[in-house]
Amino acid sequence: MSAELTPGLSPSVLEISGLCKSFGGVSVLSEFDLKVESAERVALAILGQNGAGKTTLMNLVTRLIPYDKGSIEIFGHKTSQLSAKDLPSVGVARTFQTPRLLVEETTLDNVILGALARQDVSGRGRVKRAKEVAKEALEFVGLSSVANRYVKSLPFGNRKVVELARAWAMGPKVMLLDEPAAGLSNDEEKDLCKILAAIRDQGVALILIEHRMGLVAEVAKSVVMMDAGKVVFTGTPSEALSSEVVRERYLGSGFEATSLLNGPKDAPLFHSELTSELTPEMTKEGERR
Ligand SMILES: Nc1ncnc2c1ncn2[C@@H]1O[C@H](COP(=O)(O)OP(=O)(O)OP(=O)(O)O)[C@@H](O)[C@H]1O
Ligand SMILES: [Mg+2]
Repeated sequence: MSAELTPGLSPSVLEISGLCKSFGGVSVLSEFDLKVESAERVALAILGQNGAGKTTLMNLVTRLIPYDKGSIEIFGHKTSQLSAKDLPSVGVARTFQTPRLLVEETTLDNVILGALARQDVSGRGRVKRAKEVAKEALEFVGLSSVANRYVKSLPFGNRKVVELARAWAMGPKVMLLDEPAAGLSNDEEKDLCKILAAIRDQGVALILIEHRMGLVAEVAKSVVMMDAGKVVFTGTPSEALSSEVVRERYLGSGFEATSLLNGPKDAPLFHSELTSELTPEMTKEGERR
């Protein structure tokens, strides 16, 4: 992709070519191409209407479901030669649209599982080291106070952030986040923006699916929009907000971008997140347990 990413450093964070995926003969991705170059600060937001195939794309990239055709490389590794379990070793961590946590375990234990996936947490004393890493991750996301609570007792918004902490504890080079702000209050979203900006500024690449345009405007350096199985827009967040194709096919003609460009922290919720993923029974491919 072009946008404002600076090419030069290689290999690319992510390179997808000719990716095809159908469900029961219905095409979701068709000859889909996307390249995310390595750069000093990478933060790509993926936009698209409900059902555009965003989660499917993330599930394909992280090997949760197989693709029909094409190729995906992450930091130069062909994912066809990796399993989902290998991904942490090449620096990939992700979160889910509906959090996948061990709800009968504590917050800390869930995050420890992320830390145990690190290459540098091994050998004697690895559990002790993983616990330290997990505590640091919880502090980083501002959830130390719920470290010893069972996940099942936490509100949905907290669970989303616990999952982010688990991914962060893995020490990733790239994080794939599926609607990290969905279900968060406006205050929680502001905190999340700060956390994501800090991750980005530490040089960890972010690839996030998000409907909340305020967060996109604040965190993303570049934006792609998916429609009909392909990328139909590539640009910066401000270009996206004024793009005809994005307005027509996603934002809606009445969308008011001024508040986002002037002050994304006060941005409203965006339409489609309210209609989708918050109820577990509305499962999607890859989200099914
Ligand atoms: N297992 C499946 N079987 C059949 N169709 C599926 C399956 N999983 C996903 N789909 C379909 O693929 C399309 C893309 O779904 P996907 O969940 O990737 O969309 P999305 O862009 O993430 O949408 P949202 O914004 O609502 O999360 C939808 O039409 C969905 O119904
Ligand atoms: Mg989705």
